[in-house]
Amino acid sequence: MNPNILVIGSSNTDMVTLSDRLPKPGETVIAKEFYIAQGGKGANQAVAAARLGGEVTFVAKVGNDDFGRQAIAGYQKDGINTDLMTQDSDAPTGTALINIDATGENMIVATMGANARLSIKDVEKSLDQMKSAKVVLSQLEIPLETTLYAAKQATELGIPFILNPAPPNTLSDELIALCTYIIPNETEASYFSGVTLKSDLDIQHAGQYFIQKGAENVIITLGARGAFLHNDRTSQFITAPTVKAVDTVGAGDVFCGAFTLAIAEGKPASEAVRFANRSASLAVTRKGVQGGIPYRKEIG
Ligand code: RIB
Repeated sequence: MNPNILVIGSSNTDMVTLSDRLPKPGETVIAKEFYIAQGGKGANQAVAAARLGGEVTFVAKVGNDDFGRQAIAGYQKDGINTDLMTQDSDAPTGTALINIDATGENMIVATMGANARLSIKDVEKSLDQMKSAKVVLSQLEIPLETTLYAAKQATELGIPFILNPAPPNTLSDELIALCTYIIPNETEASYFSGVTLKSDLDIQHAGQYFIQKGAENVIITLGARGAFLHNDRTSQFITAPTVKAVDTVGAGDVFCGAFTLAIAEGKPASEAVRFANRSASLAVTRKGVQGGIPYRKEIG
């Protein structure tokens, strides 16, 4: 039986340009390529968990528009249960404008759209599904109160709650304390902890910030280097396979989706990090966020 996973998060339509370099403020550069694809941190993580073997239910809100309909159809193709996704007639589907340069460096501007209207009521409607979930996963691309409510319900039900605190928004101490696992990248870890990450010791200090606030485990993703796992029992850097990256957009999402799946399968955290490192490393060798997300047979 594949483990049930509940993802509560954002769904965007990504509009992506590939250019030799990123523009400076006020500058126009000509891109070599443009494409539109499904995205959003919640959606990317849901797709990763599903392709890697999870029975995923996605709680999200899109607009009552073509982008929204395309998104739902796309997730269904990946076998994701979209019964708890709704189309809002008063807000458009969230969008993200993504520019990627020749080195894979990127910049993203996202509009929340319907994601801003994913409410506590929407999570309430998912409580039956939550009861049978092995893990609940969320991010910060939806209202904080919605994520907080999801975390409280998961905790009451004794289900591990995983938070990817991205994008770096307001994050309450109450929410951190409800996290079984919190997975920031270096930028987010630095933003929330106030520690500038220049050395391994800095990374450990940033990790300790989340533990002191009450999170059970913290995993700081470190790009090509891998990830740092920290809790009361262990502090370890776990390296990722060396690959040639062509598109790193959404690499953190693949990591979170894969890590969640591995935890739902009952793997210990260090093994789950290794599995997530392998999944994200393969994803960055391919173009496109959801297009590059690997399937289980490719990871093992
Ligand atoms: O993490 C990558 C995602 O961030 C993109 O798919 C985009 O939609 C933004 O939400």
